[in-house]
Amino acid sequence: MDFRVADLGLADFGRREITLAEHEMPGLMAMRERYGASKPLTGARISGSLHMTVQTAVLIETLIALGAQVRWASCNIYSTQDHAAAAIAVGPDGSPDDPRGVPVFAWKGETLPEYWECTTEIFRWPGDELPTMILDDGGDATLLVHKGAEFGDAVPQAGPGDSAEYGVVLDRLRATTDIDWEAIASSLLGVTEETTTGAHRLHQMAREGTLRFPAINVNDSVTKSKFDNKYGCRHSLIDGINRATDVLIGGKTAVVCGYGDVGKGCAESLRGQGARVLVTEIDPICALQAAMDGFQVVRLDDVVGTADIFVTATGCCDVITAEQVSRMKHQAIIGNIGHFDNEIDMAGLAAWPGVRCEEIKPQVDLWRFEDGHGVIVLSGGRLLNLGNATGHPSFVMSNSFTNQVLAQIELFTNHDAFPVGVHVLPKRLDEQVARLHLEALGVHLSTLTDRQADYLGVPVDGPYKADDYRY
Ligand code: NAI
Repeated sequence: MDFRVADLGLADFGRREITLAEHEMPGLMAMRERYGASKPLTGARISGSLHMTVQTAVLIETLIALGAQVRWASCNIYSTQDHAAAAIAVGPDGSPDDPRGVPVFAWKGETLPEYWECTTEIFRWPGDELPTMILDDGGDATLLVHKGAEFGDAVPQAGPGDSAEYGVVLDRLRATTDIDWEAIASSLLGVTEETTTGAHRLHQMAREGTLRFPAINVNDSVTKSKFDNKYGCRHSLIDGINRATDVLIGGKTAVVCGYGDVGKGCAESLRGQGARVLVTEIDPICALQAAMDGFQVVRLDDVVGTADIFVTATGCCDVITAEQVSRMKHQAIIGNIGHFDNEIDMAGLAAWPGVRCEEIKPQVDLWRFEDGHGVIVLSGGRLLNLGNATGHPSFVMSNSFTNQVLAQIELFTNHDAFPVGVHVLPKRLDEQVARLHLEALGVHLSTLTDRQADYLGVPVDGPYKADDYRY
């Protein structure tokens, strides 16, 4: 069978939640209405690597409604919602005994080797077919193709400076000699990338001259990063902390590391619960923003022994070191909401003399030090809002995923407009995504008169702002 999920028996539950989510995803449903008949993605083969949640199920079925074929994996070992994966494997017309859905390779609690196996599976198209596009979140699928094409048949062993996970990637590439990574890299029309960290990787590759195909940075659509990253995290951060620990947040001291889009949402949600929120930053502009928003900006070292909750939201590595963890209060809570698990030094913690990891429940561990005190680490340092809860709610993901659909259509139908490099969608599409979500919230937009439009020097129908406007 061309899929791998935890339990097909969960498909009915998944389908019921998908149906609820569709109502909350007006942007995606508008895409189906607008393009369902013309099917602009007919002939497209999309290899998708993005958290296999209920919301992603609505994205997948939208891409299919627009004519695409899809193979899917999750982009994190803990983020899959097994009922959503089952519903996608079964499909709207199938049953657990007769699955007719999409090849999906995802379950909650994959091991790292399994994770990279699943990522490989999205590139294993039937016969001689090759994917036309990647839809990526964090850049792992893009990385796999680039490394596969770079090494060919001569995949090296991991070196002493390489991370353990990179060793797993190399092992996987050695085991997949049946996949022609070079053919995939040279035939791909491009990738649409969901998140800040993935966009960062793409820019790095473009700078180094190693990027093999065009990329659309969906993250930097305003209707993505200024909504999903901020308001999505404002919702799902405390959802994760509550489901994991059920600790009363009010009155506690919480530290948010990083005051970018994600950090802003996190700080606001913790404050909303009555926490005293402290922020750490390395960027003077973001530090000043945090201060003006009323948050005390501190150095982590100075508060590590007194705060109760620590959240990393930086996209950077080594933000909380094992030594700092060792100085935290008994039952302090540590969680990461950035894309990768290197924000908290989990390897250093595991190697700390005398430390023991006691599982409280899946994705909640008490790391106990030799002196008896312990700290609670959520999702093993992986993004807690998807590991401990169900990620962002549908409405905000509808904004992100409508950008994804538009970006996939652009790459497939207008690929000459996208040379190898990192692009963003034009502002008129960004504004279109926002427009599609106004009615559901009862928003009544004002309209410029011709005289006003002339005065501002913008068209009556937009775009209204210069490309570098910051919102
Ligand atoms: P951003 O670039 O807007 O913000 C990150 C902030 O962290 C910046 O202001 C930067 O100056 C600061 N920073 C960097 N290193 C730091 C350090 N060592 N100490 C303190 N501050 C530091 O990025 P954004 O969009 O906020 O994303 C952050 C991370 O969250 C990324 O990895 C992104 O991919 C991920 N993300 C996760 C989501 C989720 O649902 N869990 C949703 C959206 C993004």
